[in-house]
Amino acid sequence: MSHNFTQGPLPMSSFPGTRFRRTRANAALRAMVQENALSPADFIWPVFVRDGDGVREPIASMPGVDRLSVDLVVEAAKQAHSLSIPAICLFPYTDPALKTKDCAEAWNPENLSNRATRAIKDAVPDIAIMTDVALDPYNIDGHDGFVEDGYVLNDRTVEALVKQALSQANAGADIIGPSDMMDGRIGAMRQALEAEGHTNVCILSYTAKYASAFYGPFRDAVGASGALKGDKKSYQMNPGNGNEALRLVARDLAEGADMVMVKPGMAYLDICHRVKADFGVPTFAYQVSGEYAMLKGAAERGWLEGERVMMESLMAFKRAGCDGILTYFAPAASRVLQA
Ligand code: PBG
Repeated sequence: MSHNFTQGPLPMSSFPGTRFRRTRANAALRAMVQENALSPADFIWPVFVRDGDGVREPIASMPGVDRLSVDLVVEAAKQAHSLSIPAICLFPYTDPALKTKDCAEAWNPENLSNRATRAIKDAVPDIAIMTDVALDPYNIDGHDGFVEDGYVLNDRTVEALVKQALSQANAGADIIGPSDMMDGRIGAMRQALEAEGHTNVCILSYTAKYASAFYGPFRDAVGASGALKGDKKSYQMNPGNGNEALRLVARDLAEGADMVMVKPGMAYLDICHRVKADFGVPTFAYQVSGEYAMLKGAAERGWLEGERVMMESLMAFKRAGCDGILTYFAPAASRVLQA
């Protein structure tokens, strides 16, 4: 019987015609039929910036991750570039004395994030710099937006986020990463960037960002844990929802996002897959601090093989359809891939 390929694949033959173990029998055959691959080009490396010179300060809940002064962040960027990692993402640890109710440090051209951006651009012009748009590192209330009567205000926060995004673009950021989850922010930022001549500044929207307990170590890293009152459930997504993530992707794309993100990663791979399948747009996942801490913590105790779970967890993102992964493992995984 002749087969018409438009009708789909032939029915599979049954055992022993089909033996799936044939293509698993040796490394060469396994390599030939491998469907997904990781490369350093898949990684965006999040780094924590602090004040000072020559300062490297470990973060207890993220073994192997340090807060770095600007000079050492520049060294990190050089290292990333030599490992073929295309982008680095900056998170500032702000001096508590600079945290205020009006969060003005967020759009100070001389704030840590902007100083680090300029220093990296000078020293490593070819690496892409992503910055974080949200008020939490600067907010005395620890929230991503302005708080009034215990509620995080949307529209007033968006006005501030636009100022913050513009100051980051002015400093030379290539990719603006709004992680705040306010409504209307993407459109407002895109309009402002266009109006100010930043026509090629990308927006990688934290589109489907869930109210997650996996962010705990990050809040230690940026010094927001102590400040935060309450939780972020009135603006970050409910972990029980999936369809809502797709509506958010449609909304953010319509408002001018170039790339979208699902966050956290490993517990939300179904969302990554649905986003990629439905929209076919550049889709990123953030393997967040708690995911890093849990793998690292278990590996340090000898409960898991650290390198293998690192690579396996990263491969899962590719299999789910992600184009890239924000991961604290970026340099370690790139070293494994280049070995
Ligand atoms: C806040 C922000 C968070 C992360 C990135 N940006 C934490 C939060 O929303 O509380 C988390 C990253 C991580 O856990 O690695 N704007």
